[in-house]
Amino acid sequence: MVHLTGIYDMKAEKIEEVLELAQHYCIINNNEQQLPLNVLRGKMVGLLFFEPSTRTKASFYRAAKNLGADVIDLQAGASSVAKGESVLDTAVNLRAMGLNALVVRHTSAGIPDFLAHNIDIPVINAGDGAHEHPTQALLDLLTIKQEFGRFAGLNVLIMGDILHSRVARSNIFAMSRLGINVSLAGPATLVPQALSSLGVNIVCDVDDALAAADIVYMLRIQKERQRGGLLPSLSEYAALFGVNERRLPLLQKHAIIMHPGPVNLGIELTASACFSSHSRITTQVNNGVAVRMAVLHLLLSK
Ligand code: CP
Repeated sequence: MVHLTGIYDMKAEKIEEVLELAQHYCIINNNEQQLPLNVLRGKMVGLLFFEPSTRTKASFYRAAKNLGADVIDLQAGASSVAKGESVLDTAVNLRAMGLNALVVRHTSAGIPDFLAHNIDIPVINAGDGAHEHPTQALLDLLTIKQEFGRFAGLNVLIMGDILHSRVARSNIFAMSRLGINVSLAGPATLVPQALSSLGVNIVCDVDDALAAADIVYMLRIQKERQRGGLLPSLSEYAALFGVNERRLPLLQKHAIIMHPGPVNLGIELTASACFSSHSRITTQVNNGVAVRMAVLHLLLSK
């Protein structure tokens, strides 16, 4: 692994290698063993976020620190980007200061790949437009592995705004590769039919799909990316595609609810669903630190 710009090109064995190391770091983090470790002592990791983030940015920061690295957390809005500096120029300048890896989030799909082709340090995609969010998919897989101990034969229902979701794309690639049966549901305007060519099922009956799922993966309605007419009414969306008090009893006893966050409470999940015993949303966040430690370790420790 030289860069991590997407799951699309990642083989199943490499995914499993990341998850194994992440599980090791999960145990270290949660047992509050002596941190920081020395794995990345003397290395410097740059965080370059051109879009807002809570979970991804904070967990990359924590992950780098836990491994003993220094972190440059560049506030894109307060940097020379505001004066017209290009993304590549920003990256090249940070590299000139001794940066060893760059974690980048951007509204435009393809920026991490572009940087990876033009700079001689590992680039990690922290979410690019509606393209990919590979570390989110990896932390989701770790959460599933911890819960079920396997991937093959599980049924996942991914529901909501698939069209704009980099999380859905990375998870569809990763889950399919590992033998999980993937079903998608959502408003017809937000579920591209072309995705069925990837081997996923596009389902219409939400209640039936919920009852069959081992994993109910809810997506955030990305209000900031909606164009006119795609989603006429949030309350209608919540009634048709949300998990609420009526739908919770449809779930199998062992089924888990996941969500990448931030949750629009009352839209994709009511509070009773978000905080129910099925929910693994905070486990996902906890696993985010361990997964990002594993990714930084594998890219930087050689
Ligand atoms: N899941 C996720 O990417 O969350 P943030 O936008 O808070 O990083």
